[in-house]
Amino acid sequence: MEGRRQLQEQRQQQEVPVRRGVGVHQYHTRNRKERTKAVSFLAGSCLLTALVSSMLIVCAVRLLAMAAASKNLQSGSLIEELTLVSLLSHRSPQPTSKNSTNLSNNRDRLFDMPANSSHQLHSPNGQLPRRPKSKIDHLFLPLRLNSSRTKIKPYHSFDVFQKGMKEMSRKFKVFVYPHSQDEPYSKVFLPVDHEPSGNYASESYFKKALNSSHFVTQNPSEADLFFLPFSISALRHDPRVGVEGIQDFVREYVQRISAEYPFWNRSNGADHFYVTCHSVGRTAMEKAVEVKVNAIQVVCSSSYYIRGYISHKDIPMPQIWPRQETLPEAHSITQRKNVAFFAGEGNSPVREKLVKTWANDSDILVHSSRISTPYSESLLTSNYCLHVKGYEVNTARIGDAMFYGCVPVIIANYYDLPFNSVLNWEQFSVLILSSDIPQLKKILNSIPHKEYVQMQKLVMKVRKHFQWHSPPLEYDAFYMVMHELWLRRHVVRYPLH
Ligand SMILES: *[C@@H]1O[C@H](CO)[C@@H](O)[C@H](O)[C@H]1NC(C)=O
Ligand SMILES: *[C@@H]1O[C@H](CO)[C@@H](O)[C@H](O)[C@H]1NC(C)=O
Ligand SMILES: *[C@@H]1O[C@H](CO)[C@@H](O)[C@H](O)[C@H]1NC(C)=O
Ligand SMILES: *[C@@H]1O[C@H](CO)[C@@H](O)[C@H](O)[C@H]1NC(C)=O
Ligand SMILES: *[C@@H]1O[C@H](CO)[C@@H](O)[C@H](O)[C@H]1NC(C)=O
Ligand SMILES: *[C@@H]1O[C@H](CO)[C@@H](O)[C@H](O)[C@H]1NC(C)=O
Ligand SMILES: *[C@@H]1O[C@H](CO)[C@@H](O)[C@H](O)[C@H]1NC(C)=O
Repeated sequence: MEGRRQLQEQRQQQEVPVRRGVGVHQYHTRNRKERTKAVSFLAGSCLLTALVSSMLIVCAVRLLAMAAASKNLQSGSLIEELTLVSLLSHRSPQPTSKNSTNLSNNRDRLFDMPANSSHQLHSPNGQLPRRPKSKIDHLFLPLRLNSSRTKIKPYHSFDVFQKGMKEMSRKFKVFVYPHSQDEPYSKVFLPVDHEPSGNYASESYFKKALNSSHFVTQNPSEADLFFLPFSISALRHDPRVGVEGIQDFVREYVQRISAEYPFWNRSNGADHFYVTCHSVGRTAMEKAVEVKVNAIQVVCSSSYYIRGYISHKDIPMPQIWPRQETLPEAHSITQRKNVAFFAGEGNSPVREKLVKTWANDSDILVHSSRISTPYSESLLTSNYCLHVKGYEVNTARIGDAMFYGCVPVIIANYYDLPFNSVLNWEQFSVLILSSDIPQLKKILNSIPHKEYVQMQKLVMKVRKHFQWHSPPLEYDAFYMVMHELWLRRHVVRYPLH
């Protein structure tokens, strides 16, 4: 954290404008001598600019070459640092900085957050500082109003999405690094042959569905992406590896495939991906830095805040509790008598705050211990279902809420929401900052009934994307993740000699 802040500060210092820009009016001097002076000054500064930019280009090329050629850990960390710096420039909100560029002060506006929201600095004790109000905040308000829930559009563009999905189904090819049943670690690499279960089932569902799908190719030269089939969950439970051994296992595995096959070195892993749902995955790549910074990480714990997670490159996967029953008819809205519902362990400051604030309320039902009514019943009889950050930003509750037609309320700052490149989350969920928990009731009650009815309709429309099936069904979670991968595929294919 400290290192990151230093980098950020360095970066901000670099961002202070140094060029004063030669104003146009300077060329219109009446005096010839002055004009000559201006011209020679201009020529001089042009020359200087050209010199500096060519130096910069040479520098950049050299850095890139170094990065590409890097095979050892030292240059690995160079890549990491470079990536970190470039990320800082476009990722994090910078609540403490007042003199970076105007846009970056307001960058949080670009995320769909409530009008008063800002991405907050996370802190373990739950003290979330408020972003200082910016002078140009008002400029962003019309944008929000125009994009509010008055349009019934759960997708940014359904046409684009549908076309992409169809093209993906037709063309997408994935090469899976092979493993035979007899290898000692086959359980780690091969898909499970039973129906996946438990809280982290998403990982197993994905692997199983991919294995039997038409996307898999035996011909690596036609592959768009390469799948690293190790299972973080299986490694975690394997007594030969365990949580402590995962990092070394992954490093050795990547070394092995990069020595045995030509594909890894070709892009330093950029056209490779792996999938994990368990939060152990957050640190699993610490000793395989190139996986972290180059490969596509498909993870449930997708938080802008996590150092190992790189938004846009990596893919948020929904954590979904597996349910065999068919989708229930969602209760009619009049049967939804509770305003909001939450049940879950108080294992984070945010949840503690929620329970502390709303424990005795008769409209907002929050439980941190066993509940007397069945869970599904509560989800069916509430208007809003709360997804509240626990240890991680992700929990299975968004999927739970949608399954039962309940509008999710997401209280998990910095959550990079699943499928957000396709789905317009603001239209069918309510995003609330942790610091606004005391205003929860006010915020929910201020949403007009008409708007709520629309949101609920959209939940019913998009809930199919938050389910796994074996075999998978069109537009379900498997196809959605594949579509995200397709969006990140490599368009340029280098020949393998
Ligand atoms: C940053 O802004 C503060 C006032 O907000 C000012 O005192 C300081 O000089 C600025 N720093 C730079 C590097 O511009
Ligand atoms: C940036 O903000 C300052 C005041 O906050 C303003 O004077 C300046 O014109 C802004 N710059 C741009 C490019 O909008
Ligand atoms: C938003 O902020 C304004 C003042 O900045 C405050 O009056 C208002 O109550 C806030 N709204 C919510 C929903 O917190
Ligand atoms: C929506 O945007 C238009 C400009 O594109 C603007 O004139 C209008 O006032 C905006 N509507 C609202 C409700 O802010
Ligand atoms: C994975 O795919 C292979 C080849 O299609 C198949 O033989 C195997 O049974 C599949 N495994 C599982 C667990 O589905
Ligand atoms: C890939 O690079 C590594 C590290 O430099 C090297 O050991 C390995 O032999 C290379 N793989 C191939 C297939 O050339
Ligand atoms: C809830 O009720 C219990 C028992 O009446 C009381 O001890 C507690 O302080 C109340 N909590 C809140 C937040 O009002």
